[in-house]
Amino acid sequence: MKENKVKFIVIGFGHIGARHAELIQQNLNCELLGVVELENKVPENLKHWLSLEDCFKALIMISEPIVASICLPNGLHAQVAIECLKNRMHVLIEKPMCLSRADGERLIKCAKEFDRQIFVVKQNRYSPSVKWMKEMVETETIGKILYVGMNCFWNRDERYYKEGAWRGTLELDGGTLFTQFSHFIDILYWVFGDIKNIQAKFSNLSHGTQISFEDTGLVNFEFVKGGMGSINYTTSVWDKNLESSMIVIGEKGSFKIGGQYMNTIDYCHVANYTMPDFETNVEANQYGAFSGSAANHNFVFENVVNALQGSEPIAANANEGLMVVDIIERIYQFRGLN
Ligand SMILES: NC(=O)c1ccc[n+]([C@@H]2O[C@H](COP(=O)([O-])OP(=O)(O)OC[C@H]3O[C@@H](n4cnc5c(N)ncnc54)[C@H](O)[C@@H]3O)[C@@H](O)[C@H]2O)c1
Repeated sequence: MKENKVKFIVIGFGHIGARHAELIQQNLNCELLGVVELENKVPENLKHWLSLEDCFKALIMISEPIVASICLPNGLHAQVAIECLKNRMHVLIEKPMCLSRADGERLIKCAKEFDRQIFVVKQNRYSPSVKWMKEMVETETIGKILYVGMNCFWNRDERYYKEGAWRGTLELDGGTLFTQFSHFIDILYWVFGDIKNIQAKFSNLSHGTQISFEDTGLVNFEFVKGGMGSINYTTSVWDKNLESSMIVIGEKGSFKIGGQYMNTIDYCHVANYTMPDFETNVEANQYGAFSGSAANHNFVFENVVNALQGSEPIAANANEGLMVVDIIERIYQFRGLN
């Protein structure tokens, strides 16, 4: 059966790269060929290359396509993914796909040229509460959307920023919406579609020189399909994450999904609708003192395998990854204007 396994390499063996490696090894349809990592932190039982060039040289004789799982600082995603595509690999890119629309378009062009696939990690889409919300909207159970209010109130303090020199920098991190909250902007786009007529205000309330961008933002907009929305966010919450939530008000009712990463259904009052009984809770990814988004990465690897074997579509494709980057870029156009 080994011949049928999808072969992976992991590039970047930090917090999330180590998790990718673990999940690839646990999946019976996947095989981990090795890890590209600059530092000496890769366990001895894994093949370790210090550079991409060494990895490409070592794997040149393998004829089947390999999937490169890119778990590097955000600002390196596009350039490294392009090198992998040119070396005939498919790519699975951690969120955010890249830090600019221009880079995203270059990536998509390169994948077309080399006939390879781009998968983007958007694991929060697999949370039961998020899937439920999408169904409530798509089936029009909640009616026409009037208003969506997204609140993301997290803790990211010196414990987080001291862990990697790239964090908090404009070139490699890009900003709070890219690194902390792009999952939730993906959900907003995935469920409610594109936005327009954006207004935004930002401030660095509590991080001083630890970060070279905002820690807090107030954003409002209209949906292209109709209705208004807002995103209020901060990473200035003391000690631990408070919540990530969406309040949705439709013509036929309203609901709220909440918890730390939109993993619970906190309120639902909708005409002619009774909430079914189902388990919504999902564990968070834990990184020492701080916690991240939903620990649903196993579903991402299942989708990569199934999509490459032709049994299901790509769950989060490059065009969707690009739209999220584009929305954040349009919001960040207001940087420096207030
Ligand atoms: N989906 C999620 O929930 C989730 C969670 C955490 C992080 N992420 C994303 O994953 C990416 C990595 O985040 P992290 O928290 O694991 O960061 P990290 O700093 O813990 O890990 C990055 C690793 O990349 C290595 N590296 C840097 N440049 C390299 C290069 N040129 N070649 C090889 N290795 C290199 C570093 O040494 C480090 O080990 C980011 O894009 C982040 O946004 C996603």
